[in-house]
Amino acid sequence: MMGKKAYISAVGTYLPKKILTNQDLEKLVDTTNEWIVSRTGMKERHIADDCEYTSDMGTKAAKIALDRAKLNPLEVDVIIVATLSPDYSFPSTACLIQAELGAKNAAAFDIQAACTGMIYALSIGKSFIESGMYKNILIIASEKLSAITDYKDRNTCILFGDGAAACLIRGEGPGLKIGMVSLGADGEQSGLLYLPAGGCRNPATVETVTQRMHYLKMDGKEVFRHAVRRMESAAASCISDAGLDSSNISYLVPHQANARIIDAIAKRCEIPAEKVINVVQHYGNTSASSIGLALEKMSIENKIKDKDHLLLVAFGAGLTWGSLILTVEGDFANGTSS
Ligand code: ACO
Repeated sequence: MMGKKAYISAVGTYLPKKILTNQDLEKLVDTTNEWIVSRTGMKERHIADDCEYTSDMGTKAAKIALDRAKLNPLEVDVIIVATLSPDYSFPSTACLIQAELGAKNAAAFDIQAACTGMIYALSIGKSFIESGMYKNILIIASEKLSAITDYKDRNTCILFGDGAAACLIRGEGPGLKIGMVSLGADGEQSGLLYLPAGGCRNPATVETVTQRMHYLKMDGKEVFRHAVRRMESAAASCISDAGLDSSNISYLVPHQANARIIDAIAKRCEIPAEKVINVVQHYGNTSASSIGLALEKMSIENKIKDKDHLLLVAFGAGLTWGSLILTVEGDFANGTSS
């Protein structure tokens, strides 16, 4: 008997209205539009209002995914939120979203795998479906990175944006079948990208605030180097473990951290530019949300066709990385035409 398979039945996304352009950033730090475009490919990013939180954005994205799948929130079995910018350390953002949705029958928890969060969460959702434990799983990536970005640090503030993406996972198609997954981590490199204060090592004090330790810190050059190497090897092992080669990949859907990183991975994986999804110019790096936002854009542009293989690959703080293959089964209109 064939085992159960997990499918993304619907995607929903949310982007805050306010847009921060490169020209706006020129007024905040010593930078130029030309530098940002040439080094990152970014032109603008969405920024949440002061009183618009990670849970609010995640709830909005989740409602769209549930509407598109025509599923009542009471039928959701579990909510998994991937975020590195939660509303609170605890309770989890997943619990806050569960309350907002009225998904009273759902278990709820957060995971923390930084920018790789969506791929880690999808792999957990896949396991829940394949084991038969749950039927309807809501995976939500939501990030308010503007809350932990230092707008006095030109090395990092140009990169990040806010937004959310949700995927409803079920045990039957049509949809995007979650196939081979490859995950990895290297905690020895944790100091390359981190938020120094706010946890139990450096609880908030006047000093941590004065020293701007509640903003993320990154060694960009080193992160860049690891990102390319790790994403290439995760993608390569995923493709070969699935019994495919790069010519079978319809689209590469990478984490949207930097256009140069995306180009380098595509080249190393021998995937031609027309098969690479790059939306970094519009959204910047939205961490865990970026792959879901890219899937939504593909869906709107009618790029997701029956039998396509989509290769997802991501990398983030931890360090963490992961790759996953989605195979389209049937018509994945995602509710955009209804
Ligand atoms: N404007 C103008 N100049 C700048 C800016 C800026 N915004 N930022 C840095 N510079 C300067 C630097 O100070 C440096 O000057 P110096 O040579 O006088 O010291 C020069 O530009 C070159 O800096 P580099 O660090 O070499 O620039 P690089 O080409 O590496 O680009 C960047 C920097 C864009 C940050 C890149 O390293 C990068 O994208 N890194 C990876 C980020 C990433 O992938 N993060 C993913 C994980 S995110 C997550 O998990 C949340």
